[in-house]
Amino acid sequence: MAKKVVFGGTNSQDLGRRIARKIKAPYSSLVVKHFPDGETNLRLPKDVKGKEVILVESMHPDPNEIMIEIIFASRTAKELGAKKVTIVAPYLAYMRQDKRFHSRECKSNTIMSALMTCGDRIMTVDPHLHRISSLSEIFDIPAKRLSANDAIAEYIKKNIKNEVIVGPDSESYQWARAIADKINVHATVLKKKRYTSRHVRIKVKSDIDFRGKNVVIVDDIISTGHTMIEPIKQIKKMGAKKIYCIGVHGLFVEGALKRLKKIGAKVITTNTIPNPASRIDLSGTIAKALK
Ligand code: R5P
Repeated sequence: MAKKVVFGGTNSQDLGRRIARKIKAPYSSLVVKHFPDGETNLRLPKDVKGKEVILVESMHPDPNEIMIEIIFASRTAKELGAKKVTIVAPYLAYMRQDKRFHSRECKSNTIMSALMTCGDRIMTVDPHLHRISSLSEIFDIPAKRLSANDAIAEYIKKNIKNEVIVGPDSESYQWARAIADKINVHATVLKKKRYTSRHVRIKVKSDIDFRGKNVVIVDDIISTGHTMIEPIKQIKKMGAKKIYCIGVHGLFVEGALKRLKKIGAKVITTNTIPNPASRIDLSGTIAKALK
């Protein structure tokens, strides 16, 4: 088996270091600079000849720039004799654009996956699988889907009592129901209607008894936060004790974290994307899959 080296890209240096420590491989960060005109200048930090390069790079923030980093680093590693390039993209961007919602629109998930064939295999955590059910439907290279469900269930078990789990929309059953089953508590999955990127409507049925409960809303992505804010506003009026928002991937665009905290929510995410709410470390989950 080829010797492994771990390279962390711009978005994933801390996570890359943690993974490297767990698989007992050397770690270095990619050297990325920009020319005055905005072009990317990238250098591999170490010799890669005959090695397996594990490139850890989450696709948020700056998904477009980061895709270039992944492509440049993988192709360069191959050109310089790496035996294998494994892309670890803990957060995989463009997965929500999984159909042509408007005529002539770009179906970005399949284009992103085609670009990732710069590597030999790819791993990600809880990709947004909605209209497709498996990564193999869009990737031509082996693509592994890891899950944060065990780590999130463990976190809830240790830190939250008398809880009820809520999934804010139909897709979130993959997280909400699975996590609730692991810790033996009740889960409710709500229905969401999305009008625009910043406008969703979610109706919380009035017959659900949240009185005195710690309500944990679980979703894969927290982006603008509206999918969380809508149910929180209603659940608050229904007598809940505390409301927790747990997201696998905390994108927190347009001040979402601040807005969620302002309405009293306790916000927790994994460390697939570095952010101030990240409390659940997935380096162990990823390292296990790399061994
Ligand atoms: C989409 O359905 C995802 O699972 C999330 O619910 C969504 O991306 C969250 O977006 P936002 O925080 O902008 O409402």
